Amino acid sequence: MNLLLENELNSALVAVFEKNGLDKKFAFVKVSDRSDLSDFQCNGALALAKIAHKNPREIASLIAEELQKIDFIDAVSVDGPGFINIKLKNEFIAQNTDKMAADERLGCGEVDDKHKVVLDYGGPNVAKEMHVGHLRSGVIGESIRRIEKFVGNEVIADVHLGDWGTPMGMILAEIIKTDGNLDKVESYDIAQITEFYKRANIRCKEDETAKEDARKITAELQGGNPQYRKAWQHLRSESIKAIKENYEQLDVNFDLWWGESDAHETCGEIVKIAREKGVSEIDEGAEIIRLEESNKPKPPVIMVKSDGAFGYQLTDIATIKMRYDEFSADEIVYFTDSRQALHFEQVFEVVEKLGIAPNVKLKHIVFGTVNGADGKPFKTRDGGVMNLETLIEMSKDKVRQSLPKAGEVEGYGEKEIEKLTSQIAVAAIKFQDLKNTIVSGYIFELDDFAKFEGKTGPYIQYAIARINSVLRKAKANGINFGKVILQAPEERTLALKLAQIHNVVMRAHNEKEPSIIADYTYNLAQTFSTFYNACSVMNAESAELASSRLTLAKLVRDVLTLMLYLLGIEAPEVMLKAENQG
Ligand code: ARG
Repeated sequence: MNLLLENELNSALVAVFEKNGLDKKFAFVKVSDRSDLSDFQCNGALALAKIAHKNPREIASLIAEELQKIDFIDAVSVDGPGFINIKLKNEFIAQNTDKMAADERLGCGEVDDKHKVVLDYGGPNVAKEMHVGHLRSGVIGESIRRIEKFVGNEVIADVHLGDWGTPMGMILAEIIKTDGNLDKVESYDIAQITEFYKRANIRCKEDETAKEDARKITAELQGGNPQYRKAWQHLRSESIKAIKENYEQLDVNFDLWWGESDAHETCGEIVKIAREKGVSEIDEGAEIIRLEESNKPKPPVIMVKSDGAFGYQLTDIATIKMRYDEFSADEIVYFTDSRQALHFEQVFEVVEKLGIAPNVKLKHIVFGTVNGADGKPFKTRDGGVMNLETLIEMSKDKVRQSLPKAGEVEGYGEKEIEKLTSQIAVAAIKFQDLKNTIVSGYIFELDDFAKFEGKTGPYIQYAIARINSVLRKAKANGINFGKVILQAPEERTLALKLAQIHNVVMRAHNEKEPSIIADYTYNLAQTFSTFYNACSVMNAESAELASSRLTLAKLVRDVLTLMLYLLGIEAPEVMLKAENQG
């Protein structure tokens, strides 16, 4: 059950509309754009008037008059062409706030139509260093995973490792070129493996025969050559180890560590199904599926290349079938940058054509790139790809500038400081990413992202830590939690803001957009700060007011903590902010 203030208001409106023979489709309110005038507004009279060719103000006045009689409504006015502005009674808002504080889910409801959703994010590749693009996919995906679970859906998160394409053949070819054979493969660690891949990449760009060799090896690897398979197993498991470490640092989690290779058998089935349905054809030795050309030409899907290797699209088509057959997924959502837009369009169209996952909702969420100050994809100082490791280290270095040194604060030795540093550094990286709408991309703000002020992760963590300190102090002074009383305007504004949590989470879920939560979190932290400056807990005018404010403070702390959790960010109990900061 959700604890939105709109619920009772909407039911009251429906009753008024029905009584007056008005279409109840328009009987709903939204949070007011003019908080100086009202808490909520209903614009239904405008729509009704248009249909009935009547004066909107007249209809609005009729509705307003009836609303005025309702006990939890304080004031109603008709403004402009026919907006109905509604202000609620303070006691009504206060009671709702009490209910939120007593609710495990802080007033946030679940979805009605719970379903099973597979999330496909991360998508790192064997033997390639992870870069900021894999960071975005991981950070966004992790947040969506938490949001989907929280609203009541069943979630399966799959990393979908890139482990079956031509790069596999490229790196095996490179090792053979260097060593003469694959005997030493199993002694290579991840650093050596990535080095081989880098060299292979350069070679294949310049040398057509090297590329041809790599393709041949890839086809044989997929075909089951035992020597290649054995070597590949090692590359794969070393890579997974390194990737897991990276994602662990970022608190990005998966339920499944499947890769493209796990779809191999199903790929074969898909090829058969396509033949049976008569949708595939042979073209220059390759087995392809042609697609409808709507407004722009769409290249065909190459299922099987002329050398017998399976194409990237086919692995994704087969994986959808597996997710449908094995998990009965209702929805599958992918998170990659825009370069794969065509890929998923093609994949989804073939899945539809083959009828292998009927009624499954397939969605590709495209995110913008992470750029440097020059507007180009974010690079290291020497122009290299910005990998995750470097990024996390950079962020930690920034955070260290704001924290005391190990041993300077009692109970905070090397280990504790390091843990706090990484909690704050990860918050800085993730919040900077998630505060932007997914599609827009952003410039990595090297100077500000780890500061304890402004719209940053550490600022929200700091706001939480400040409230923790208020709670500790109140406890030491014998102040208890009590019923919420709303007197000062700052108290009222804060309570109204808190009551929006359900809508915020539902919008983030519906739109698959964590920035909605990030925005709300920042606004709530600011609203709290204004409240706390005006309304002291420790020096409140009465014991009741102190207890009420303490309840509000704790509720804000809990909502902020939950919101950070949904963004994939931890909230440390204290922040040990050094004195020289803000
Ligand atoms: N491995 C791919 C890459 O790095 C991303 C995978 C995206 N997910 C998928 N199911 N194809 O570009």
